[in-house]
Amino acid sequence: MKGVILAGGTGTRLYPLTRLINKHLLPVGESPMICYGIDKLKQAGITDILLIIGKQSAGLYTDFLGSGREMGVNLTYKIQEQAGGIAEALGLARGFIPAGGRFVVLLGDNLFMDDLQPFVEKFKKQPYGSARVLLKPVKDSRRYGVPVFDEHNRKLITRIEEKPEHPKSNYSVTGIYMYDDQVFERIEATSPSARGELEITDVNNLYARDGKLEYDVLRKWWTDAGTFDSLREAARKMGKAGQ
Ligand code: DAU
Repeated sequence: MKGVILAGGTGTRLYPLTRLINKHLLPVGESPMICYGIDKLKQAGITDILLIIGKQSAGLYTDFLGSGREMGVNLTYKIQEQAGGIAEALGLARGFIPAGGRFVVLLGDNLFMDDLQPFVEKFKKQPYGSARVLLKPVKDSRRYGVPVFDEHNRKLITRIEEKPEHPKSNYSVTGIYMYDDQVFERIEATSPSARGELEITDVNNLYARDGKLEYDVLRKWWTDAGTFDSLREAARKMGKAGQ
């Protein structure tokens, strides 16, 4: 099983900090943000990892992480030229995943405490061509993808609504996804959204439509650290005191 961490994008909600340095290299506690995702994949036994990065700070990533040897992983890098959306970034992983291969995708700004291993084990038992997402209950789900559950089969999601004004549940779809190589065909079947991006929610909805989107719920703390408030919270939790 391989891993992909998406660390492109522009991080506009963290301006002016992210005009200087890419969001995923900002410090969270004692380490740059990107280290936590790498550690989580490694904890789940995934050491062959592709980092999708933007052009900005590309040299800093390689200076800091190198081949990954110091962290005990094997890193490959790919550049996303422009922030064309999460699904566009994921599409760049195509050559990295072997035919029939399964992999875990992390959004680089998602920080969490759960061990991924049990979820990965469940995903391995799913049929080829299906996908798995991880959810987390939140106070206000309006700034996330929000799942609508299948009334007849509670292990399935029938649809995800992206940043809905009136959410149908208090769950967020976190940036932790599991796919096999069929995801690349599904990405090709999507078109840019109103904001001009290829949306991961559109890709996941193709699975949901076919009854092929399963889920688990994270038990421990999770945040996406894309805003100043969430970055501060993440630093508190991930610092030494929080562990
Ligand atoms: O954090 C969970 C949420 O992430 C989900 O609930 C949403 O369904 C999903 O769309 C996403 O929403 P955001 O609006 O928070 O995504 P954002 O644009 O902030 O990007 C999240 C990460 O993806 C970030 O770490 C950088 C990476 N990214 C993003 C874009 C747009 C890329 O690598 N390339 C890109 O072009």
